[in-house]
Amino acid sequence: MGIAKSASAAASGGLSDPAIDRKVTVYVMGKACEVPATATIMGAIEYAGHQIIRGAGCREGYCGACATIYRMSGDYKIRTGLACTTMVEEGMVLAQIPSVPAEKVVYDIEKLKPNVSAVQQTYPVVFRCVACNTCTRSCPQDIRVMDYVQAAKRGDIAAITELSYYCVACGLCMLRCPAEITQPLVATLAKRLYGRYLSKNSPELAVRVGAVADGRYDAEYAELMALGRSALSDRYYARDTE
Ligand code: SF4
Ligand code: SF4
Ligand code: FES
Repeated sequence: MGIAKSASAAASGGLSDPAIDRKVTVYVMGKACEVPATATIMGAIEYAGHQIIRGAGCREGYCGACATIYRMSGDYKIRTGLACTTMVEEGMVLAQIPSVPAEKVVYDIEKLKPNVSAVQQTYPVVFRCVACNTCTRSCPQDIRVMDYVQAAKRGDIAAITELSYYCVACGLCMLRCPAEITQPLVATLAKRLYGRYLSKNSPELAVRVGAVADGRYDAEYAELMALGRSALSDRYYARDTE
């Protein structure tokens, strides 16, 4: 997450409500700051007067852009989380982290097979896994990361796909892995292989794609595009969800 000192603390994400009066002290880049106890790490950093210029996207725990590390007072352990969904606690020590270098391998999915040979050709680094489980302990999505790395070593593409389904590609497991394995990239490879070779055909999807191509949703799409931000936001949050 990249932060810069802001001209004011105005960008507090709605945290200026006077009803929010309980404060906690956190340390932002070493400086003590009083912030609302109801703030997320991201909200607290902004409340403290910093503008987040990188490492923020959806702000709702979906995009994985806001990976962050922190410590609690008196505890040596480095903790990991998403800055937009992790709530502040008294004495939290927050710091900026550099982006994690993750070399994305370029491959032609048509030339790979959905088995261990694809892993060997693209991400052989997974075979260096020492089964320390640090990746699983680092994951803000509670994904059994080490288990999907073991599945990658067996070439079990379906198991990787299922185990990594809720990965938001935040990179925190990579950051902590002593073997420098790029877990989310391995998960993406597996999902692509699964989609290309293993998933069942979906007649429902074909029907829906046909409807899109026939312009059945054009009017509704045009209506959404014409809405202002506030009306669009209201529509989004009023939608039916499972
Ligand atoms: S598996 Fe890794 S990249 Fe994916 S959400 Fe968990 S920590 Fe983030
Ligand atoms: S952190 Fe790295 S070495 Fe440790 S279990 Fe996870 S993938 Fe394996
Ligand atoms: S900003 Fe998207 S997950 Fe935090």
